[in-house]
Amino acid sequence: MKAVTTFPLPTGAVALLSEVAAVAGPEGWREELADADALLCLLTDRVDAALLDRAPRLRIVANAVVGHEHVDLRACAARGIVVTNTPDVLTEATADLTWALILATVRRLPQAERSLRAGEFHGWGFWDYLGGDLAGATLGIFGMGRIGRAVARRASGFGMRVVYHSRTRLSDGDEDRLGAESVSFDELVARSDVLTLHAPLTAQTRHAIGRAALGRMRPGAYLVNTARGALVNEAALAEALRDGHLAGAGLDVYEREPEITPGLLDLPNVVLLPHVGSATRDTRTRMVMLAARNVHAVLGGRAPLTPVPA
Ligand code: DGY
Repeated sequence: MKAVTTFPLPTGAVALLSEVAAVAGPEGWREELADADALLCLLTDRVDAALLDRAPRLRIVANAVVGHEHVDLRACAARGIVVTNTPDVLTEATADLTWALILATVRRLPQAERSLRAGEFHGWGFWDYLGGDLAGATLGIFGMGRIGRAVARRASGFGMRVVYHSRTRLSDGDEDRLGAESVSFDELVARSDVLTLHAPLTAQTRHAIGRAALGRMRPGAYLVNTARGALVNEAALAEALRDGHLAGAGLDVYEREPEITPGLLDLPNVVLLPHVGSATRDTRTRMVMLAARNVHAVLGGRAPLTPVPA
């Protein structure tokens, strides 16, 4: 059997895969698909019907990230191909990064650091480098899955009130434990001082934060997005930031990565990160090992560990 990878694998993953298959790629991985049984891929690889047609023997697409909007699930199901992803293993790292971005945006840390490096720090100034407060403010969470809940858990440490809107409401017990109140989407947008996005990208959530939602946000509120760029209409966001309706935004993901909507790059009140939510050494290792374990299971005739429902 043969497993093809679109990206370099660590030795541990190669060793595991080698128990059930020969490992090929990333060099020439598209050509290698012709007789591949498994594909390990990333969010930057579009897995559509045209690609699957090149891989008539494929049994599993092991997506080594959690988001799977780049994989055509229907085309995979029609060919009997299992699709897997990497839930859980990146939850804490992504929640940490979300808080780093909330703090950096609200306290304007990159602006302050840029100013110091530019030689503008001439000693402590009472009215210099002022940002916003988190304690007592309302954190709005759009999407209360694993990462949304991990973000909510950290909110009590900052003394924030938590409201959320999600496809599935939490149990009363979980709401109590997290101190989180379920509200409608409109209420979420209208009540949040900091609105953070953790919903998957689907046809329903694309541009959920568009001109209308941005217009309903509180004047002086902040938007943070570590989920998927296309949840937000970036052109409308740039307008809301430029005209001062929003105080700032922290973004780790973009509508058309790696392209950044030019309006955003010109604004001083936006913190822009290069999609690093899960970028810790241990987390990335756990992600790739989970993808390899999924391949190992399926090629070994067992059920996948973390299948994506078709
Ligand atoms: C994912 O897993 O979907 C992230 O965006 C990359 O960590």
